[in-house]
Amino acid sequence: MLLPNEVQLWLLPLDQPGEVAHLNSLLAPEEQARAQRFLRPDHQRRFVVGRGLLRTLLGHYLTIEPQRLKFAYSPHGKPFVSWPPTNLTFNLSHSNTLALYAFTLQRAIGVDLEQINNATPVLRLAERFLAPSEQLALQNLPPPLQAEAFFTCWTRKEAYLKARGTGLALPLNRFAVAVGPTEPARLLSVEGEPAEPTRWTFQALNLASGYAATLVGEGSGWQLNYGALL
Ligand SMILES: CC(C)(COP(=O)(O)OP(=O)(O)OC[C@H]1O[C@@H](n2cnc3c(N)ncnc32)[C@H](O)[C@@H]1OP(=O)(O)O)[C@@H](O)C(=O)NCCC(=O)NCCS
Repeated sequence: MLLPNEVQLWLLPLDQPGEVAHLNSLLAPEEQARAQRFLRPDHQRRFVVGRGLLRTLLGHYLTIEPQRLKFAYSPHGKPFVSWPPTNLTFNLSHSNTLALYAFTLQRAIGVDLEQINNATPVLRLAERFLAPSEQLALQNLPPPLQAEAFFTCWTRKEAYLKARGTGLALPLNRFAVAVGPTEPARLLSVEGEPAEPTRWTFQALNLASGYAATLVGEGSGWQLNYGALL
């Protein structure tokens, strides 16, 4: 059960070979068809498990059989529950073999999880995708800290985009977040939208070794609880 002013997080494994058939049976035909469109069998299975677990968790919160839920999508693809009628909101992210789910009531919410890859050319990617202040902050860090800082920054940006539901319709270089690994997660500025930084709360999540993750929610003062961690 979710209390008002609560956010619940679940971190779950996507490689669950024994559960694939059951979870697949919970999916709607269009979800099963989407799974079939993944070229790699492991990607197919992870989509089935990720979506089946999402239905299972939503079924638990809404006390409904998971296969009876219906999803709809915002113009930029953010899924929400269209049936049964509810004020529950959710978001999810997957990276490699892990999925992170966030559930709450009323407020807009976004999560992002990324596996930290130390071989990624982070300064090049930063130049291409990040805001100037983020690039500078990253360049000023000692090189051994740059990969973790980049992926942390990335999850802050993606979680914000996902909370707003805009996807990349809001370009990544039009807004800036705090970057340093010791800096509290927060939104610094959004071009043309001066009120945005006070509208959202950013929360750094330390969930699994080798992964960066951020939760962004509208407003402030919620209580974060964990449904399950690995
Ligand atoms: C879709 C997007 C919102 C996040 O994508 P992502 O970080 O690749 O993927 P994540 O695993 O974190 O999130 C995917 C989930 O977010 C949800 N989602 C999809 N569109 C969304 C949107 N507009 N807003 C919020 N959530 C969304 C879905 O539940 C999706 O899971 P599903 O496909 O199993 O249903 C979007 O920001 C995007 O396309 N990002 C890609 C960034 C990119 O291409 N960068 C290139 C440089 S490396």
